[in-house]
Amino acid sequence: MPDIETHDFDVVVIGAGGAGLRAAVEAKDRGLRVAIVCKSLLGKAHTVMAEGGAAAAMGNVWPEDNWKVHFRDTMRGGKMLNNWRMAELHAQEAPDRIHELERWGALFDRTEDGKIQQRDFGGHRYARLAHVGDRTGLELIRTMQQRAVALGIEVFMECKVLELLKDSDGRVSTAVGYWRPTGEFVSFTAKAFVLATGSVGKSWKYTSNSWESTGDGHAMAIWAGADMIDMECLQFHPTGMVWPLSVRGILVTEGVRGDGGVLRNSEGKRFMFDYIPPMFAAETADSEAEGDRWYEDHTNNRRPPELLPRDEVARSINSEVKAGRGSPHGGVLLDIASRRSAEYIRRRLPSMYHQFKELAGVDITAEPMEVGPTCHYIMGGIRVEADTAATTVEGLYAAGEVAAGLHGANRLGGNSLSDLLVFGRRAGMAASDYAEGRTGSPAADAAAVDQVVDRACAPFGREDGENPYDIQADLQDKMQSLVGIIRTESELVEALAELEVFKERADRMSVKGGRVYNPGWNLATDIPSMLTVSTLVARGALARKESRGGHTREDFPKPDPEFGKVNLVQRLDGNGEYTLTPEPIPPMPAELQALLEEAK
Ligand code: FUM
Repeated sequence: MPDIETHDFDVVVIGAGGAGLRAAVEAKDRGLRVAIVCKSLLGKAHTVMAEGGAAAAMGNVWPEDNWKVHFRDTMRGGKMLNNWRMAELHAQEAPDRIHELERWGALFDRTEDGKIQQRDFGGHRYARLAHVGDRTGLELIRTMQQRAVALGIEVFMECKVLELLKDSDGRVSTAVGYWRPTGEFVSFTAKAFVLATGSVGKSWKYTSNSWESTGDGHAMAIWAGADMIDMECLQFHPTGMVWPLSVRGILVTEGVRGDGGVLRNSEGKRFMFDYIPPMFAAETADSEAEGDRWYEDHTNNRRPPELLPRDEVARSINSEVKAGRGSPHGGVLLDIASRRSAEYIRRRLPSMYHQFKELAGVDITAEPMEVGPTCHYIMGGIRVEADTAATTVEGLYAAGEVAAGLHGANRLGGNSLSDLLVFGRRAGMAASDYAEGRTGSPAADAAAVDQVVDRACAPFGREDGENPYDIQADLQDKMQSLVGIIRTESELVEALAELEVFKERADRMSVKGGRVYNPGWNLATDIPSMLTVSTLVARGALARKESRGGHTREDFPKPDPEFGKVNLVQRLDGNGEYTLTPEPIPPMPAELQALLEEAK
């Protein structure tokens, strides 16, 4: 065993966003020895970028709402690629998780009669997002973090995990990483591990994700032998800031549209009426009074077209900009100022108000915002068993964004906060069960740990090699232009060829200085994950010859029913090569199938 710091626990959770915190709380409540290891500071997670709310069919605003409608909305929004069992569990359990969060101290906005307030969001038939202004993710993290600290869960902050190692029986037993401030290496052994590492967005140029989201968990999982599914399904949130350039991509919450904001092009036209897909619209209202305009969906529900699912809205914005009807800086205009009072906007959307004031010098109570699509979320990820969040590798569980299935080809806004509560808890329960049943003490394989350390330190041994920042910037450019919102075969083939070159460049990466506080080296250790994830997304995108949800192919613009029956599964074969296989989605039970046809 190399001479490095070691720790041993029953359950180690990697990632401290909502899913990781919820999993850790569950395992700690069971009396187990639990640790959270996170790359950033506790409290700083992409969870906070789910600003507008957590979807749960509590029926506080619309008593008609119930889990069955939420299930149906989630499946339709995901274009039926969803794991139906996850969608069922999520819709059934989300209300309990929200009430639990409230008991633990979350201060939700209230209705006049004192219930948890619920807001409208795209693709949800009823207003069902429990929220705290436009800071819901932050409140969730604050609440869960306090709970975790109160329970005495050990937290290892600013600790980047590099790889997972298995024992001779194929069970995950060790995570090897390093302390970001000191560069000292550390290993964790545990009976069970939960991956809750979140997103991958930092491989794209314009993203709502911050520096942590380099897909570490996705990459570690496939390297450890896990199955990944539908990695091509990537969500471009329709509204990120587009100006100034230095803040391009920062999220503009869907809550702006949920609270009445509308989208206009450079001609002042509410263009979304031109993009209502037949599967959603039965009728479009033709009222002169713009505020009253809506389309009627197949369940006789009147909806503003700005609240179509995100994939539809993002593509429509893209088309308007391409047609030359964009805003001055290449987006479109999001207008809430002409539709709501300044007092309402400041009360309901305080973060948006300050964000635009401080970053763009725009007063959103008086002027429209310039917005455009931003890489926000990946629906694809680690294949998990619905009830337990178990991956296909023994001893490894996954929850939250790193896990796939619930959202199919496109996630509805608000479904991520409830996802991470529902499946964070389930991952914590199942990992605890597994840890309690696991015999023997997990041990680290010294030689394997050494190899991880050597790989991480290799850039120090190279003179005048590639700068990791150059690789990152070039990768972001290529992924944005070749594997972005609209894809086509020739560009995907080009992207895969470019990724091979990036891998060669990464092998030549060099960094200067020592390991203490060395952001260049820190980034160098992120590059392998970024390249792995980018490759999986590009390979999936090339193979899925259809358009569905967050995956749009210009050369195959329609959904293909045959692709609608399969997950695209990627894994490593015995020779270290990635394979990609379409595998059938299990048939949905008749009672759930029936729900999809029902209006209520
Ligand atoms: O727009 C938003 O507030 C984001 C929410 C989400 O991604 O769920």
